[in-house]
Amino acid sequence: MTYRIPFNRPCLEGKEYEYIAQAIANGHASGDGPFTRKCHEFLQRELGVPRVLLTTSCTDALEMTALLLDCGPEDEVIVPSFTFVSTANAFALRGARLVFADIRPDTLNIDESRLESLITSQTKAIVVVHYAGVACDMEPIRSIAALHGVRVVEDNAHGLFSRYQGRYTGTFGCLATQSFHETKNFTCGEGGALIINDTDLLERALVLREKGTNRSRFFRGEVDKYTWVDLGSSYLPSDLLAAFLYAQLEAKESIQEKRRRIWDRYYESLGEWAENSEVRLPVIPSDCEQAYHMFYILLPSAQIRASLIAHLKAQSILSVFHYTPLHLSEAGRRFAARPSECPVTEDVSERLLRLPFYNDLSEAEQDRVIGSVTGYRVGSLSQVAG
Ligand SMILES: Cc1ncc(COP(=O)(O)O)c(C=O)c1O
Repeated sequence: MTYRIPFNRPCLEGKEYEYIAQAIANGHASGDGPFTRKCHEFLQRELGVPRVLLTTSCTDALEMTALLLDCGPEDEVIVPSFTFVSTANAFALRGARLVFADIRPDTLNIDESRLESLITSQTKAIVVVHYAGVACDMEPIRSIAALHGVRVVEDNAHGLFSRYQGRYTGTFGCLATQSFHETKNFTCGEGGALIINDTDLLERALVLREKGTNRSRFFRGEVDKYTWVDLGSSYLPSDLLAAFLYAQLEAKESIQEKRRRIWDRYYESLGEWAENSEVRLPVIPSDCEQAYHMFYILLPSAQIRASLIAHLKAQSILSVFHYTPLHLSEAGRRFAARPSECPVTEDVSERLLRLPFYNDLSEAEQDRVIGSVTGYRVGSLSQVAG
């Protein structure tokens, strides 16, 4: 079914085709060409991080992370249950056992107050997800991790350019991962990046990303031929994708401004309806500057959510729910170190609904969504004209 207002629509910012043509004219369409370098430099400069490496997806950046941390069957890795499968799967692929953490009911981020109880002598890493581009409470998380000698990794798929206490997310963990999938603020269809804050991990990251070879040392003139030196895979994207992405990154201010306006309009226009309907809107702690990645609402029940989805669908508007709890999934149970209790995750995943959100969502389209949502009477499970 084609929706009049889809949940997401890939949006051009202006120079994407021009840069792709340039990438072809450059004669370097494979990985690590001129546009990949431009993306690396842009992100390093903007975020103030030592090194960024584009990858083919956030999933691949997470897989590189698991390899770089030498995760194996002896290790446990703490991940939120309320996240995308890749956050956990990347570590399960290396044989590590997963420990699923519950989330806070306000930000839906990993509940730092329960982290310590999940740490054992086998814990190697805590992977945090800045859900909806709102930062986790990194101060206590980092203190707990430091106390127990555990690495912190940020799955920052949603959170590029969000801040915690004035500092960008993606700069706190030894490694952080970004996504440029088509649903993200900045996209090239499928893409990602690994942010390397611990520079001791850099040289090996370059090898892993280049199929386990020391190709980057060859290009730096440090060896006279390159060869197989370690495990690895092909994690680097074509320069054509980097060209598309660079056009998006260059439009950072305008993309973020458009998304801020859309988010604020949803928040302001749905406030009264939410209050009268026992619907909860997103919570942004005062020390967080969010990334304006998505707009979700928390409905009173799964039944009401299904009914609202149907109500919006009848008006050709696509709204979608999000993660299902990983600790209850078939693979989650198989790869868990032990069973977990994650009641908040279970509750939230049944009630959360995401509204259409993309850079070019027009005011008229958004008005239609807002009118349809506020025209839905939650209390009686019935609908009035939207
Ligand atoms: C939190 C989180 N991590 C990782 C991913 C995977 O990203 P990608 O599609 O770039 O592999 C997603 C996907 O949306 C995600 O939501």
